[in-house]
Amino acid sequence: MGSQWTKDSVYRKAMSAGYRARAAYKLLEIQQRNGIIRPSDNVVDLGAAPGSWLQVLRDLTGGKVIGVDLNPIAPMGGVTTIVGDFTDPLVQERIREEAGGIVNVVVCDAAPKLSGQKSYDQARAVGLGEDALAFACTILKPGGNMVIKSFQGELFVDLLVEVRKHFYSVRGYRTKASRKGSAETYIIAKNFKGTCDGAEGPL
Ligand SMILES: C[S@@+](CC[C@H](N)C(=O)[O-])C[C@H]1O[C@@H](n2cnc3c(N)ncnc32)[C@H](O)[C@@H]1O
Repeated sequence: MGSQWTKDSVYRKAMSAGYRARAAYKLLEIQQRNGIIRPSDNVVDLGAAPGSWLQVLRDLTGGKVIGVDLNPIAPMGGVTTIVGDFTDPLVQERIREEAGGIVNVVVCDAAPKLSGQKSYDQARAVGLGEDALAFACTILKPGGNMVIKSFQGELFVDLLVEVRKHFYSVRGYRTKASRKGSAETYIIAKNFKGTCDGAEGPL
């Protein structure tokens, strides 16, 4: 990992570029290496506050961009924001309505508040990824793409196996902008098969 990716320099770079968080560089790299978002895609961002991924998404697509978070997201032109828990059926219904019937990409950078207890935190993080997958299966169009934040550990492989059931192409991807020593790994899932066990079909 080169020195330009140390915590402070990525943060400073993000702030001087006008991004709300250093995480913007993770999505930029994911997009550059994996081509997840196409120019007219409608995209749903789960766990979107403070909004740096939304800023990147708004630049990548002319389609609808919808961001959801437990915390309020400061208003952003061209982006719809929803305050709520994305695992809540009422919030999911609101997302469906805002999307108006077509979701091409779901990205999830959601993370639980950390307790400091490694295995417990990893289990909760993987659980959020599973929730994101289950919801994405109900809204994604066949052929759609997904990005899920996760963490390496014993449960990571289980999530990867689950994602593989629903997408034709799946890989784990570590970004250079992730903090040094972090187990953070993104699951890049492309080409949604169009069905999801135990969930409704796509919109
Ligand atoms: C790492 S931050 C996301 C940063 C964001 N990608 C950005 O670029 O600004 C993780 C977010 O996930 C949110 N989150 C965690 N669980 C959630 C849930 N069940 N529903 C909605 N948001 C959730 C947290 O409130 C937190 O703001």
